[in-house]
Amino acid sequence: MSKKVYLDSAATTCLLPEVIDEMVQVLQNDYGNPSSTHSFGRSSKTLVESSRKSIAKHLNCSSSELIFTSSGTEATNWILNNAVKHNGIKRIISSKIEHHATLYTVLALQKEYNIQLDFVNILPTGSIDYNHLSELLNQEIPTLVSLMHVNNEIGTQLDVSKVGKLCKEHKALFHCDTVQSIGKSKIDLELLPVDFLVASAHKFHGPKGIGFAYVRKGIVMQPMTYGGAQEKGLRAGTEAVHQIAGMAKAFDLGHENLEKDMAYISDLKNYCIEQLLANFPDIRIVGENTFYNIINFILPFSEAKTAMMLFNLDIKGIAVSRGSACQSGSVKPSHVLSEILSDENLKKPNLRVSFCHTNTKEDIDMLIEGLKST
Ligand SMILES: Cc1ncc(COP(=O)(O)O)c(C=O)c1O
Repeated sequence: MSKKVYLDSAATTCLLPEVIDEMVQVLQNDYGNPSSTHSFGRSSKTLVESSRKSIAKHLNCSSSELIFTSSGTEATNWILNNAVKHNGIKRIISSKIEHHATLYTVLALQKEYNIQLDFVNILPTGSIDYNHLSELLNQEIPTLVSLMHVNNEIGTQLDVSKVGKLCKEHKALFHCDTVQSIGKSKIDLELLPVDFLVASAHKFHGPKGIGFAYVRKGIVMQPMTYGGAQEKGLRAGTEAVHQIAGMAKAFDLGHENLEKDMAYISDLKNYCIEQLLANFPDIRIVGENTFYNIINFILPFSEAKTAMMLFNLDIKGIAVSRGSACQSGSVKPSHVLSEILSDENLKKPNLRVSFCHTNTKEDIDMLIEGLKST
């Protein structure tokens, strides 16, 4: 069978062999319940807590500020619900290009609790309009700002520091969806003025079904599930020890190789852009100042070709995404692209290509050949 090419790391990433080894070890040897007081339980509990400490060290925060969750989606739902139900938040400022984990949660909160919901304007570059955000924050009403660091469809980046400072000036809480960037960029929580972050291990070469929330010390949270005393009583339920250990291992490796991987992947991205421009002169790259592992582009193909393009690439064993993975196969244009593209451009074929350190220039050559023969 010919080589398969995976260029969809923004949807999910391959598991690193060291992560698999770590998880197998834990599954085989550390099956005790972390709540048990005997040696089996204590050993599992030690693994959970050492994983938390190791993640906290990379983020320069306290381990008590990290709560393990099943996903980024769960973490975001918990934080936003808690803010409205228990932290006195009367207004949320977000954007229409957030991941549905945020967008659908804020819309549900608006409907159920009648909070004010304001969307910050998005510029044609895919960036938020910082002046508009500043204007919105001038209204004196207990506010939470929820804006993502790296957009999963187009890769545009938020100036987290700038937004955090604005929020501080206006005494607003700040939740940042860092699912696409955490583990793939340096985040120092001593320096970054954010109140909440969310993470998902499967985006940084860890297992699926595990993530975490960062909640800055001093913010009072209510449990997302009731039951046992796990996660300080905030998320009752027996811990998935192997997934937690696998996530910590992946986070560790991600940080160990961060600079090398960032340089290598940035180089691949530049090569891909060069090749796309050389082979399809009318191509349009979507978004400016995008994250180093994501490219989103529009190809100058007819509508008939558009329908077949993903299918043809898939037949050739090349995996890329159209907009967001959650949207593939949907006939509705992506909610993100709808915010920044004209109706005419929305009809054209749009692809998201996303890389990781296991990709090579050969993968990109195969993508280009695949697109040329579509
Ligand atoms: C930016 C962003 N936020 C949130 C999520 C949801 O994370 P999870 O898959 O852990 O629920 C994703 C996943 O695609 C994402 O890309």
